[in-house]
Amino acid sequence: MASALLKYSVFTLLAVFATFWVAKASDPNILSDFIAPANSTSVDGNYFTFNGLRGIFSQTPPNFKVTKASMVEFPALNGQSVSIAVLQFPTGGVNPPHTHPRSAELLFLVQGSLEVGFIDTTNKLYNQTLQVGDMFIFPKGLVHFQYNADAANRTATAISAFGSANAGTSSIPATVFTTGIDDAILAKAFKTDTATIQNIKVGLAPKA
Ligand SMILES: *[C@@H]1O[C@H](CO)[C@@H](O)[C@H](O)[C@H]1NC(C)=O
Ligand SMILES: *[C@@H]1O[C@H](CO)[C@@H](O)[C@H](O)[C@H]1NC(C)=O
Ligand SMILES: *[C@@H]1O[C@H](CO)[C@@H](O)[C@H](O)[C@H]1NC(C)=O
Repeated sequence: MASALLKYSVFTLLAVFATFWVAKASDPNILSDFIAPANSTSVDGNYFTFNGLRGIFSQTPPNFKVTKASMVEFPALNGQSVSIAVLQFPTGGVNPPHTHPRSAELLFLVQGSLEVGFIDTTNKLYNQTLQVGDMFIFPKGLVHFQYNADAANRTATAISAFGSANAGTSSIPATVFTTGIDDAILAKAFKTDTATIQNIKVGLAPKA
């Protein structure tokens, strides 16, 4: 009897902690219907409308391009825990390995085909070749990438949804090689020489 009660108590406690953990794994809840801009006295439908992606499908960019609609571009998303990004890949276009610290990413392929993959914290790769209509989920915080290797040279277009109004992005190449970390440290970390590190840095430097 006592042991049944103990089991029940432990289970309840675990359930409460699990719920708390899930609740913490997203943007904080807000205590109002929405968050209006600080300096406004009234908002209308325009505030909840974002037209920054108009015309985005009318041309293919020459390189991989991401266009975001997060709370930075679309302030009404603040407090709503959602955002999207449109990803456009000409043939050979790559979105280098990166992470989103504050959200999982649900990618929906609407044009072309796309190689995608993520790496878990045991360094196991999970990859896939997507066709139009397919979705792929990149778990929160894990390193992932996308690449258009389409044999028919078709453009690939994907819409990605995030469970955060500001998912954030840390791009591995930029984070590691363009932020001023000392060449000697990077050479040791990558078990190579400083000349190789400098070559990588040159390749990642913004083109003049
Ligand atoms: C409110 O502030 C923002 C940014 O400071 C500005 O762009 C916008 O025009 C302001 N709106 C009003 C109604 O003053
Ligand atoms: C996954 O990646 C490997 C290379 O690491 C590749 O050979 C394989 O075809 C990929 N699988 C899919 C389903 O794209
Ligand atoms: C795709 O582009 C490459 C490089 O321009 C070319 O060699 C190849 O023939 C093209 N393939 C198709 C199916 O058009």
